[in-house]
Amino acid sequence: MGSLEWYGGQGPVLLSDQNIGTADDVGFIYYDENFLSQDEAGAIRDLILEWEPVVKDSFPNAYAGAAPDALTGRHPFFNWLNVPEFYAIVGPKLQSAFRIAFPQKSEFGVQCWANTFRENEGIAWHKHEDETTGKFFCAHLFIEGDANDSATHYQVGNDVVAIPNKRGAFYVFDSAIYHAVALRKVTSTRISIAFDMLEYDANEKRFWRFHHLKF
Ligand SMILES: [Fe+2]
Repeated sequence: MGSLEWYGGQGPVLLSDQNIGTADDVGFIYYDENFLSQDEAGAIRDLILEWEPVVKDSFPNAYAGAAPDALTGRHPFFNWLNVPEFYAIVGPKLQSAFRIAFPQKSEFGVQCWANTFRENEGIAWHKHEDETTGKFFCAHLFIEGDANDSATHYQVGNDVVAIPNKRGAFYVFDSAIYHAVALRKVTSTRISIAFDMLEYDANEKRFWRFHHLKF
């Protein structure tokens, strides 16, 4: 994989080269690379950077696959869809996208967290489902970074596709897909948002932390 380095080691497949591709190469369930305008992405970036110290001070890091004090590790505790200024921009766009992507569905429980990766930070190869969760849907929304220095890598069959990051781009994928972000080699901050979307069930106790999104 050239000079790329990964948090936690190489991951599930042998990486032969960077395999830069497009969204169509990954087989996303849905994507919209203009989901947010540049101004909207900038507003979300400012909100995340404003709230980041508060979120970090308020909750522990619960994730071993990123830096020890990473914002990512607060994902079980803090749902960004519950921040009104955040929801005002992202919520209606999610509803519109889901109406197209999931015409047979009308509601999800959505967990939404933010990731800020700085120099020498990234996220290890991982997938969102495990033996306890069953299958669900996941999404990435890219907020801040330069496509020349920032990509998300997805496992596709026995290969890996690198999607150069694009501000405002939104990708929906199956919870079984492994993905990672290589350790960052520039000093600017890479910002992204991730979502887990599960069939809504009012009796499911873990849904206390999910946002009930109807669409
Ligand atoms: Fe992930």
